Amino acid sequence: MPIAEELHDLAIEIAREAGELARRRRTEGVEIAATKSAVADIVTEADREVEALIRSRLAERRPGDGFLGEESGAGGGESDITWVVDPIDGTVNYAYGIPAYAVSIAAVAGYPRPESWEVLAGVVFSPANGELFHAARGHGAWLDSTRLSVNDETPAGALLATGFGYDPATHAGDLARIARVMPLARDLRRGGSAALDLAYVAAGRLDGYFERGLNPWDHAAGDLLVTEAGGIVGGAGPGDTASNDLIVACGAALYERLLTAALNPQV
Ligand code: IPD
Repeated sequence: MPIAEELHDLAIEIAREAGELARRRRTEGVEIAATKSAVADIVTEADREVEALIRSRLAERRPGDGFLGEESGAGGGESDITWVVDPIDGTVNYAYGIPAYAVSIAAVAGYPRPESWEVLAGVVFSPANGELFHAARGHGAWLDSTRLSVNDETPAGALLATGFGYDPATHAGDLARIARVMPLARDLRRGGSAALDLAYVAAGRLDGYFERGLNPWDHAAGDLLVTEAGGIVGGAGPGDTASNDLIVACGAALYERLLTAALNPQV
């Protein structure tokens, strides 16, 4: 089996098991384990446990691969493949009992930073409703067994999503960006999980998504979902890859206008 498909099948298997653990822990009650970059940036015991499960399953099945996870950091491997993992994307939703959270697992080739990597496989699993978004490079993006396609034309304005970083000092810039983008929008959503936002762009449930301040594990799997569904994912300049500075994801007809509106040289 070609490598992207093999990694894709493994990512699905592990994401389902990890998602089931996250869902079970949620029903048992969630404990905040620590705060990270800001008081609003929390990690739950479940984030740590789910990431440990994913990491150990990958170590058993693909011992030579590297790992980059939100909670346990990076570990180098001997192969060219790194697994980029957010065990629970949408942690604040998870902690509050809002079901919009997801396990995000991507397998990337090359140096494991968004500007250098090539995403080979990506899975975003939503344990609360069992939806599994998945893609292997060159094989399309899927929701379970339904092939996905981004929306292109948005004659009534675009249904857009965004998010806010945890650092309150960045909120004024985020709000200024929203003000510039709103003329393109029919409405705006703030779902609370970047991985699901990207999966929804791939599925045509959103027309576009933009955000500043994402980490690589928030968007690795979602990036591939969008591009395999025919969309574009980019960063803060023409031709740039998505990064902490900016991610913009949508169909080709909207892309240049959304990127131009989202760019904010003052922030
Ligand atoms: C967060 C979510 C959120 C986004 C934040 C991310 P986390 O990830 O994806 O939607 O706005 O920027 O940090 O902390 O829940 O894994």
